[in-house]
Amino acid sequence: MVDGLDHVRRNRRVWDTEAAAYVEPGRRAWARDEPAWGQWGVSECRLRLFGDSVAGLDTVELGCGTGYVSAWLARRGARPVGIDNSPAQLISARSFQAEFGLRFPLIHGDAERVPLGSERFDLAISEYGASIWCDPYRWIPEAARLLRPGGRLVFLVNGAILMLCLPDEVDAPAGDRLLRPYLGMHRFEWSEDESVEFHLPHGAMIRLLTDCGLVVEELIEVEVPAGSTTRYPWVRFDWAQKWPCEEVWKARKLP
Ligand SMILES: C[S@@+](CC[C@H](N)C(=O)[O-])C[C@H]1O[C@@H](n2cnc3c(N)ncnc32)[C@H](O)[C@@H]1O
Repeated sequence: MVDGLDHVRRNRRVWDTEAAAYVEPGRRAWARDEPAWGQWGVSECRLRLFGDSVAGLDTVELGCGTGYVSAWLARRGARPVGIDNSPAQLISARSFQAEFGLRFPLIHGDAERVPLGSERFDLAISEYGASIWCDPYRWIPEAARLLRPGGRLVFLVNGAILMLCLPDEVDAPAGDRLLRPYLGMHRFEWSEDESVEFHLPHGAMIRLLTDCGLVVEELIEVEVPAGSTTRYPWVRFDWAQKWPCEEVWKARKLP
C-alpha cells in the first residue's frame, strides 16, 4: 500500500468479479417503481431516503453499482449522476439504461476522489456503495464537498451491532455474541476474498459528519417488517427482529 488507497484497487477487483451475480438482482430493482431498500427490501414509505420529493434535484449516487437507485430518482424527476469504481458494474448499469430506456450520466471513478466540481448536488446518496466500501474519512468529506449548502447526505449501511456479531467464517450468520471491539471499529477485511469494508461506531460517525459541516437529522435503526425475506445468508429473520441489521443515516449540509 503506497497511498492508503489499496482498498480502492482491491474492491474494484472484487466488484468486477461479483458483477455477474448482481445482473439479475439489478434488473429486478430497475424494473421496480417503488424503491425497496437494503438486503430486506424495506419500503420507501418506512425509510423515506428520498424525503418528501426529489423532483428537480441534482443527485449523485456514490458507488451506484447497477444504477437502480439513480433510476428510481430519475423516474421521480431528479437529475441523477452515478459514480462507481467497477467497470463491470457500469457495463451492467449502461445495459439497463438501454433496456429500460432511461439515461443519466455514469462515471467510472472513486467516490473518495470524485472528478466533479464542488456544491453541484442537492442530494448525495449511497446504498451499500461508498457507504461501506469507501473509507468514511475520505468519502464523507467528498460527499460534503459535492453538496450545495442545505443539501442532504443519505446512506444505508450494515448495522453497527451486526458488524460486532458476524463470525469470520464465510456466510456464517450473525450470532448473539460480540466478537470484536466496538471502540476503534473502522476497517474490516474478510478471509474469503480481498474486499475491504469500513464501519464506524455511532459516536465516531456523528463526530465525522459534524466535522464535515453536516448535521445529523435522523438515524434509522431498521426494523425488518414481518414477512420480509432476504437472499443474503448472514442475517436470520429472528436476529433482525431483535437487533438492527441495517442503518439509514440522514444528514444535511449546513447552509
Ligand atoms: C453493493 S453495490 C451498491 C449498489 C447497489 N445499491 C446495490 O446494493 O447493489 C457496491 C458498489 O460499490 C462500488 N464501489 C466500491 N468501492 C468504490 C469506490 N471507491 N468508489 C465508487 N464505487 C465503489 C462497487 O464497485 C459496487 O458497484
